[in-house]
Parts: sequence; structure tokens; C-alpha cells
Amino acid sequence: MADHAILAGKRVLLVIAGGIAAYKSLELIRRLRERGVTVRAVLTEAGARFVTPLSVQALTEDTVYQDLWSLTDESEMGHIRLSREADLLVVAPATANLLARMAAGMADDLAATVLLATDKPVLVAPAMNVRMWQNAATRANMALLESRGLLRIGPNDGVMACNEYGPGRMAEPMEIVDAIAGFFAEAAYRPLAGRRAIVTSGPTHEPIDPVRYIANRSSGKQGHAIAVALAKLGAAVTLVSGPTRLPDPAGCTVAHIETAREMLAACEAALPADIAVCAAAVADWRVEGAGDRKLKKDGGGPPALTLTENPDILATLSRPGERRPALVVGFAAETGDVLAYATAKRARKGCDWIVANDVSPGTGTFGGSDNTVHLIRADGVESWPTMAKDAVAARLAEAVAEHFNANLKAK
Ligand code: CTP
Repeated sequence: MADHAILAGKRVLLVIAGGIAAYKSLELIRRLRERGVTVRAVLTEAGARFVTPLSVQALTEDTVYQDLWSLTDESEMGHIRLSREADLLVVAPATANLLARMAAGMADDLAATVLLATDKPVLVAPAMNVRMWQNAATRANMALLESRGLLRIGPNDGVMACNEYGPGRMAEPMEIVDAIAGFFAEAAYRPLAGRRAIVTSGPTHEPIDPVRYIANRSSGKQGHAIAVALAKLGAAVTLVSGPTRLPDPAGCTVAHIETAREMLAACEAALPADIAVCAAAVADWRVEGAGDRKLKKDGGGPPALTLTENPDILATLSRPGERRPALVVGFAAETGDVLAYATAKRARKGCDWIVANDVSPGTGTFGGSDNTVHLIRADGVESWPTMAKDAVAARLAEAVAEHFNANLKAK
């Protein structure tokens, strides 16, 4: 359980939408207020069919905000100020309808308008019938919102008000309180605040002609996750990404590139930086003289493609000099003799750390969700258990933070 002491003095704007679980939000208000949280509430029209404005008002000891068009509400507390004066927005219950409106960026009532206008973090506690939760539309809306940085707690499995069983029950009030405390604890932990980081991710595409290119199977999952993990610890992150199917992660500056040369230029433009993590699967070669005309079958047999070497971004960033990031981390994608090749790669590229992984067919690393890595540093090798790529990223970011803190202490 998260430490609730961190909640004292925090300000939460609670949006109560129209679901049967709204009654639990009254309990949530009480539990938050007991812990010193100031709670202000927005009640949707449907929400007011499940709980009365009077109950919400009595429990928050504040006006309940309900109407976008209320002259009194707007003059006393405009919808922009509502979120400005909060540290966190919590939507509980978050109904399928409100999630859909949020995903679409609608502003058709006070709740949606506040959620669209806010620059504050938002935590949702979904609550709905199991089939609504499992509907492809809701799944897509939720995935989109999460990719934009929205936080979620629940829903839980259980018997629903409609007598069906499955995921869809709103998290219990104390679970939501815990999630809120966890959010504030994470937000306060920023050991990389003030540090700048560059992360490369994804494949590069090297044109053969205007319509064809050479590529590789990198999904960008690991690199993107590292960018997010470093940003979470407070670093200002520039993610230099090749073409991937992933959405731009919230909280990072993203430079989209296609070729290795563009990736190098984008990295150099992002200097100076304290940290560089090269997780991209950069194409080692590009086609020499790839022109702006499509290659045609001319009866003379297939064309001969001449390859020429691409710049090595990791080696370039590792080169000693004033602009060298204090910590440069490379990856080594190997298909055998992982540690030996990766250790040699660390020396050859001149980087400080190498994250080595086995990308042999059958390991599922390329494109998969898990990764098994070894962290190779000057003083030895740490082998990590197989973990989700997000967890590898979090552990690597933590190691980066420890490295800088140890260096600070040593000074
Ligand atoms: N890398 C890079 N620029 C390149 C090639 C690789 O920045 N042109 C980086 C990768 O992002 C990774 C590291 O170098 O951090 C190692 O990549 P990898 O593909 O494992 O090694 P290669 O340099 O291609 O070496 P080899 O062909 O011997 O495996």
C-alpha cells in the first residue's frame, strides 16, 4: 500500500460520471478528505441521476460544478480555473461514454470540457458493463487515452450490478486512494530532474528508390519505453524515432526520422545532453546512389544494389569531446555469443554501458513485449531476468539515476 502521508494538502478535482458505481465516489471523497486532500467535484448530468448534488456538496464542503453554461459557476470558477487549481484530475466512475468523449476530444459538457482543457495529469477509474468494457471501441479509446499519458486504475473483475461477471467493476475507493497516493509519490520522485536525455528508437528505412526501402524488424517498443522511463524520473527527453507503429509517448519531445543519416542529424540537433541511449536498430548500410526514379524491370535482369556504410550514431555520440553526453548507453543485438560480442562492442563503440540482448529467432525479442538483457559496464556484467520491456526500461532508468547520484555524491 502506498504511503498516504503524501496526500495531505493535495488538491483533487473529481469528475463523477453517470454510472451505478457513482455511489462509491461519495466514499472516495470521504477517504480523500480524511487524508487532508481538498476535493472539488464536477458532476455530469448522468452522474446526477445516480448521486445527488447535495450529497457531493456536503461531502466536499464546496460547490458542485455541473453546468458549462451556468453564469454563476463560470463567473465564480471558470472551467479552466477548475483544473488549474487542482494537482490531479480523477474521473470516477469513468463511463464508456465519457472515455469515448475524452478520446475524441469532445467538449460537450462541463466534465468533458475540463478534461480537454486541462494540462494536469488525469487518473480514470473505469466502471461499466463487462461487454461495454470489452467492446473494441472502448478498448481502442482506452488504449489511445493511455498512449497520451492518461493513468488508469481498474476496472476489477466481479459480479456487476447487471448480474454479469467479468471486468468492469470500478476499483474500490481505497484502491483509488492508493493509486492517487502512488501517483503523487512517483511524481515527487524525480532524480533525473534537470538532466537532458536523447533516446534513439525503432528501425531506420534506407531508400532503394522512391518507393522501396531496406528496413529491419525493430518495433521501437524498448526504445520508446526507455524514453518514457527517463522522462518519468524527471529527465527532459528527446526521442529520435524511426518509423514505428507506436504513438508518440506523452512527456517526450519526439523527432521522427527515416534514415540513419537523419537520425544522426536529429541526435546532434538535440545536443547538449547528459544521457544518450541508442536503442534504435540502425541500418548498417544504405543503398549508394538511391535516386529519385523508380527502378524498372528493363529485361536486363535484377539491378545490382551497391551498399555503403551508414554513420554509426552510437560511436559518434561516444566520441570524446565537449559535447559528449556524460553517460552514453548502447544496445547490442546479437544472435549468439551475446556477452563476448557485446563486451567487444562496448569497447569498439566507446560507449559507457551496453545493454546486450539475444535477438535470435525464437526469443521473440524483436517485436515482442519481453526482453532478457545483460547490462555491461566497466566494472562487470549484470544479468537481468526476463522482464517486460517497460520493466527493463524502468530498471535501466533507475540505474542511470543511481549513476548520476553516485557521481554527485562522489564530487
Ligand atoms: N548503432 C548506431 N548506429 C549504427 C549502427 C548501430 O547508433 N549505424 C547503435 C545501435 O543503436 C546500438 C549499437 O549501435 O546501440 C549496436 O547495434 P548493433 O546492431 O547491435 O551493432 P552493429 O553496430 O550493427 O554491429 P554488428 O554489425 O557487429 O552487430
